[in-house]
Amino acid sequence: MTEADFDALRSFLKARSGLALTAEKRYLVESRLGPVCQRFGIASLSALIGRLKGAPDPALEQAVVEAMTTNETFFFRDRTPFDLFRQVLLPGCLAARGSTRRIRIWCAAASTGQEPYSLAMILKESAQKLTGWNIEILATDISTEVLEKAKAGYYTQFEVQRGLPIQLLLKYFTQEGDRWRISEEIRSMVQFKPLNLIHSFGALGTFDIIYCRNVLIYFDAPTKADVLRRIAQALNPGGAVLLGAAETVIGLSDALVPHPEHRGLYVPSRPAEATAPLRLVASR
Ligand SMILES: C[S@@+](CC[C@H](N)C(=O)[O-])C[C@H]1O[C@@H](n2cnc3c(N)ncnc32)[C@H](O)[C@@H]1O
Repeated sequence: MTEADFDALRSFLKARSGLALTAEKRYLVESRLGPVCQRFGIASLSALIGRLKGAPDPALEQAVVEAMTTNETFFFRDRTPFDLFRQVLLPGCLAARGSTRRIRIWCAAASTGQEPYSLAMILKESAQKLTGWNIEILATDISTEVLEKAKAGYYTQFEVQRGLPIQLLLKYFTQEGDRWRISEEIRSMVQFKPLNLIHSFGALGTFDIIYCRNVLIYFDAPTKADVLRRIAQALNPGGAVLLGAAETVIGLSDALVPHPEHRGLYVPSRPAEATAPLRLVASR
């Protein structure tokens, strides 16, 4: 691939998905886009990039973006964000949202579903406290391929061995051949939808808790700042955002600040929210 091809691909990816293709990632291009060339019957990477520069071809463009995403995820990844959900955020929401009995949770880069399904299993385990509550988990991703897998809910032995406690495996999954399928009762708790974070997500409404983990790392600073600004706007008063372990708002957004006690948890900096109920509970 020539320098010019690499630059063209980099501009295409940035414009279509926000993904920043840095020089160190150059090695990924061949392994990821080779299969796309094969699938579309395109002879070489240069020819593929030529096609991207030509007349719009939404199917090819989506395939290139999807191939360049990194979809690594696993159940209860990093543990703390899920402990926080169980021990701080869910009790906080139950205390703060008693008048509406409604809680909205958004996993903004849900990949193959392990993150939203981990939250759904925690909710199911707390079902007694949640009678009469309407709890919505919306899971979105730019990649329709990962969303299809997430919706179907099949996981390999390797995937269920990563982070998932054995008692939850036995309780909520059934073995089908060499795969495990998450139960319909858990699947039905999560709604999956395609969504590109660089586009407006105002139509999704507002949320009490937003998990936006391990996706900002792939964006450049202005894109991270823009997504964080809009995520802060999508938070209900007193709501909270969880980012990945390698991600932060510092130097990118004044709209969110790190929670003083809980690493990875961010709360709105709007002064009126200093006394918001969820925030008070969250800071105990
Ligand atoms: C590494 S996974 C993170 C999955 C999960 N949040 C976790 O932390 O385990 C990153 C996901 O972000 C998605 N993604 C990349 N760019 C995106 C964009 N512009 N809009 C929405 N999702 C995007 C990818 O398709 C991928 O599934």
